[in-house]
Formats: sequence, C-alpha cells, structure tokens
Amino acid sequence: MAPRRLARRSLLKMGLIGVPVSTAALGGGLAAVWAAADTTTAGRLTFTNRLAIPPLAASRVDVSGRRVFDLRTIAGEHQFRPGRPTATLGVNGGHLGPTLRASRNETVLVNVRNELSEATSLHWHGMHLPAAMDGGPHQMIEPGAGWSPTWQVAQPAATLWYHPHPHQQTARQVYRGMAGLFIVDDPDTPAGLPSRYGVDDIPVIVQDKQFGDDNQLDDSEAFWTPMGILGDTICVNGTLAPYHDVATERVRLRLLNASNSRFYRFGFSDDRPFALVGTDGGLLAAPYETARIQLSPGERAEIVVTLGPGERVVLRSYPPDLGINVWNRRFGGGDDTFDILQLRAAAQLSPSPPLPGRLADPPRIDASAPAATRTFQLSGYSVNGRQMDMSRIDFAVTRGTTEVWEIIAIDDTPHNFHVHDVQFLILSVGGAPPPPELRGWKDTVHTPPNTPVRVALRFSEHVDPNIPYMYHCHLLNHEDQGLMGQFVVVEPGQQPGQSPAHDHHHTRP
Ligand code: C2O
Ligand code: CU
Repeated sequence: MAPRRLARRSLLKMGLIGVPVSTAALGGGLAAVWAAADTTTAGRLTFTNRLAIPPLAASRVDVSGRRVFDLRTIAGEHQFRPGRPTATLGVNGGHLGPTLRASRNETVLVNVRNELSEATSLHWHGMHLPAAMDGGPHQMIEPGAGWSPTWQVAQPAATLWYHPHPHQQTARQVYRGMAGLFIVDDPDTPAGLPSRYGVDDIPVIVQDKQFGDDNQLDDSEAFWTPMGILGDTICVNGTLAPYHDVATERVRLRLLNASNSRFYRFGFSDDRPFALVGTDGGLLAAPYETARIQLSPGERAEIVVTLGPGERVVLRSYPPDLGINVWNRRFGGGDDTFDILQLRAAAQLSPSPPLPGRLADPPRIDASAPAATRTFQLSGYSVNGRQMDMSRIDFAVTRGTTEVWEIIAIDDTPHNFHVHDVQFLILSVGGAPPPPELRGWKDTVHTPPNTPVRVALRFSEHVDPNIPYMYHCHLLNHEDQGLMGQFVVVEPGQQPGQSPAHDHHHTRP
C-alpha cells in the first residue's frame, strides 16, 4: 500500500533509472524494486465503510412506449477517505453513475448531456445495438452538447455496463470514475436467483486507485509495468474497505472489473465454493460450482454465495493467472492479493430458495461453415501490426452471417479482446475446449500469450456501411495507445463506406 508507493517513488527520485550506477547498486536497487512490487491487503483491512450501492437510474415511459433515461456527465468530487475530497468524474453525480435497468424487448432512449469541459462519449458495453447508438469514438459529445441514442434491447438477462470511449482519453476518464451498470432483465429468467437490488442482488464494481498528494488520483504508470495504471487501493462502488450486511442465506454478486488494467481472481477468504451463474452476456445454462473466477478488465461475472448465520467472509482477489513471464507478472499485478469486500451475515438469515438447476438456454452458434475466418494478432499497441486509425475501416462483415475469429497475443504482456455489438461463443482456448466459466455468452476474453482463442460471432440486423464498431484490448492504456480496430456490418454484396468522423477532438503531440 502506501509504503510500496513511497519505495517506488523514492527509487525513482534516487535516480535509479537512467544514470550509470554500479552493477552492485543496480542489483540491490532491482532487488528492492522487485521486493516492493507485490501488494497484499489480505487480512489487513478493517472494513469500516458500508458498501455504497449505485442508485437505480430513474426512468419514465414516453408516449411511444420507450423507456427514457436522463443522464448528465459531471466533473465532481468524491470522498474516498478522510481529508480532502478527490476530484472525479461521474454520471448524474460526482463519481460513477446510476444503474440503468431495462427489460428484454423494451425500447430505451437515453438522453445524455455532457456537462464536462471536455468531449466524451458513453458506450453501452455488451449491448447489441446499431453502430450509431453504440457510443464509441465516432459518437462524441462535445462539452455542453447532448446525444440521445435509442434502441430496442434484444438480448437475454445480463449485467452490462457503460463507460466513455473517446479515442485516446478512455483510460483517464474511466479511471476518474465514469462507469456504471446496465442490467438487462428477462421475463424468462427462472425464479430462484436472488434478485432484490442492493439487498441480496449486489452490484460489485471493482476498481483500483492510486492516491497521490492530498487524496488526488495519481495517473502515473510505474516504469516497469507492462500495462498502465495499477493502483494499490481497491474500491467497490467507490467505497474503500467496504462491508455489506447480508440478511438472506444466499446473495448474488454482480462482479464487474471496471479497472483500467488490473486483473482479479475472485474467491472467498475461506475458499468456500460459490455458484457462477452468469458471465458477460447472460446467465449460464446451469450454475457452475467453483472457488475462483478470474476477470480481466471489462469482464463480468454473476456469482451466488451461501452464508451461515453470523458469518463474516471476505471476497478476495487471489494472484491472477496472467500466463506471462515472471518479470511482467510481478510488475503486472500477477503476484498481488487484495481483500475486496466483507460480507456480514445477520445472526438470523431469511431463507433463500434453492438455485434453479437450469438458468437459460445454452448459447449456440453454428460455426461449422463460417462466412469468414479472421486472425487477430495482438502485440504491444497494435492488432496485426496496425494501430487504430479512426478513418480506416479494417474490414466488413455481412449481416446474417457467422464468422470465426482467432485472437492470439504474441508479446508476453497481458491483453484481452473485446468486440462491440455482439456476444460471442468461445470455441477453444489454446486448441482445447473452453473451461466451464468460458462457455457462456462473452464480449471480452483474456488472451494469454501464444494461446489462440477461437470465437464464433453471429452478426444479425443493424447494418451500417459507414459507422464502424470497435474491437480492442480492454486494458485501457493499450486501447488508447492503438490496440483497437474498426469493422462495419454490411448487407450481402454491399461495400463498406467511408468512416465518417476523424479524430478532431484532441491534437496529437
Ligand atoms: Cu468497454 Cu470498446 O469498450
Ligand atoms: Cu492489451
């Protein structure tokens, strides 16, 4: 925690980097840096703060039956800890944003007003929707301007989320707090899952922060890390060292890794098993009992955990399996352990119904005759050797077809892969069938080095030859630096058009 930062900073101040030093001094310095590079808060937090629950966004139904939300992006502040509040960004408040909620088949309209002094956008991560409504870098909202996307929610129950997506500014804006959940409900969901929001169905938005002077957020990236900001302090829904009072036998946690770069490997402090019931794009076919679930940035998992009366158990992040060399693992958070959230069961718990044995239809995409097979090589800040160019459409896919994409990271640093518009089905990981936690609908997947991940994607409606969807690494500094590309969905035989907007919102150095 704080001592680690001091150690790292003082080493930088001492000029360890960039000046000639004796081999012995360098060896000693590196040993000190190495020793200081892992963080553990396991067993060290006192959990004094009640977990904040993001409010449900107010909505109304307009004359044409659309569910209407009003959002404002705000530069505000947030009291993370005693002392001076931290300058932050948020939606309808100073930090984070409300939880939007809509049902399958409902049409939504979201009025977004940008009250920041900089351009931004709001992207509906995981949502199947027209490219013009997607909120990527081509749907920028200038300061003082508004944007009102509308679409029909046409997908199963899921924990989706929203965040800004301005080209090269996403990391900074998300890190400052612009993020929120978008829960899709489905009348077909079987009864039995805990579903009282904030009571036994708990949003758990996990982010790491690094506090600098006077409680302000520190953006600096460690010299040795392969992956951008890695904060040493974890917050859940903006609360540090949080606890949540539980009054029911079972509680559902909707886990969202909304961190810029950090991976988490969630489990409980006593290693109790829990039921994984959902992944990025919806519920699994059946609950899967496990003791760990790893989430790379952008991924979600819904888990249900059972508690006994009076118990206290801590949701913990164990060292994640990054699959990379020891050096990058050490400086990429791969040796870190964090206590995340304490659950405090009441002395008497009200009974919860048993979990349904069947949750949803198993995801199915027939990938036996794909219309196209594409390969994406991730390395550094590029895909297939190319960096993001707002004016270049990398390829077009045809409406009504299925494609197979093979993603392979080749540079021994952590990456993952996120695709807009669709939920995909993972066919294989490193040539083997996917493990149970990767068998549900996914929109983001970890891509360990030299391990091909093959996914099947089905592109239905929402044709637009001119406005692209994005695919990218969701480690936000990799994305900002260029590990992103663009595709359009066209009618059979149609040619892709011209990407409409150029990146005119900020000048490059
Ligand atoms: Cu969560 Cu392209 O984004
Ligand atoms: Cu990456």
